[in-house]
Amino acid sequence: MNLPADNPLDRILVLEMVRVTEAAAVAASKLVGRGDEKAADAAAVEAMRKAFDELYMDGGAPGKGPKIDIALDPLEGTTITAKAGANALAVLAAAKQGDLLNAPDTYMDKLAVGPGYPEGVIDLAKSPSDNVRAVAEAKGVEPSEIIVCVLDRPRHSDLIAELRDLGCGVVLIDDGDVAAVIAVTDEDTTIDMYMGQGGAPEGVLAAAALRCVGGQFNGRLVFRNEEEKGRARKLGIPDDQFDRIYKLEELARGDCIFAATGVTDGSLLAGVKRRRGGLMTTESVVMRASSGTVRWIKGEHKTR
Ligand code: FBP
Repeated sequence: MNLPADNPLDRILVLEMVRVTEAAAVAASKLVGRGDEKAADAAAVEAMRKAFDELYMDGGAPGKGPKIDIALDPLEGTTITAKAGANALAVLAAAKQGDLLNAPDTYMDKLAVGPGYPEGVIDLAKSPSDNVRAVAEAKGVEPSEIIVCVLDRPRHSDLIAELRDLGCGVVLIDDGDVAAVIAVTDEDTTIDMYMGQGGAPEGVLAAAALRCVGGQFNGRLVFRNEEEKGRARKLGIPDDQFDRIYKLEELARGDCIFAATGVTDGSLLAGVKRRRGGLMTTESVVMRASSGTVRWIKGEHKTR
């Protein structure tokens, strides 16, 4: 199949993306609750790679097809999967070449809020308290009514204490900040804001989703040592950009697609379910920035 070179994110590709995340989620689901992070990740990576091989495109690798950037996490939530927790996903984002930040494998400071707020209501250059106050004012509530989601890590103890001093509700999660950032876009989750450090590649994936459904995101790379700075330099990020606060459009520019399939049940998607008679069900979402279309896709897969 030939996709038009001037429109690399052809709509056919939009749906093909889901086949890729489905494949990874199904493979990882076999390892849910088995206590083996590595095996779960390896199964998802292998399945996603295979599914990609069947797609007619070139995500930077040699080959034919439209040039696109791809950000992926075949299994976002390896520990979640091993422990059969909530919110493990197979995730993929795609955009025209050069439109997704090629994020190094470092941490990123993240700050997110859902849609409907004035542009610039959040600013990573300001303190967590100031950000909560700004969002509270824009929402028309007291700061103590704001709910903030944070990864439960020792590095966030000061942040959590500051939020609790304000009286905020703090939703602590063990893992899975892609789903947690996206949760700010869904009023049903009651989460107003996301704050704290998580993986930088996961930040780009979450940003791609917010580009499609709305909301604001600030991200700043965090370097713990020289080796991590070296990873950024290798990806073409110059030293004078190390402190840069990336806004949504600087992480995922232009048109982009975000696709995810649930591995375990979560706030965004239901997980893979094995049913009687060899039937397996999946739930996926695929969204596109240019149109703002969000498609929820339920898959039924016969395994015998
Ligand atoms: P993995 O699937 O790679 O284990 O990532 C899970 C995750 O919780 C991410 O969602 C998050 O960005 C990152 O790990 C946080 O890193 P750390 O566990 O080092 O705090």
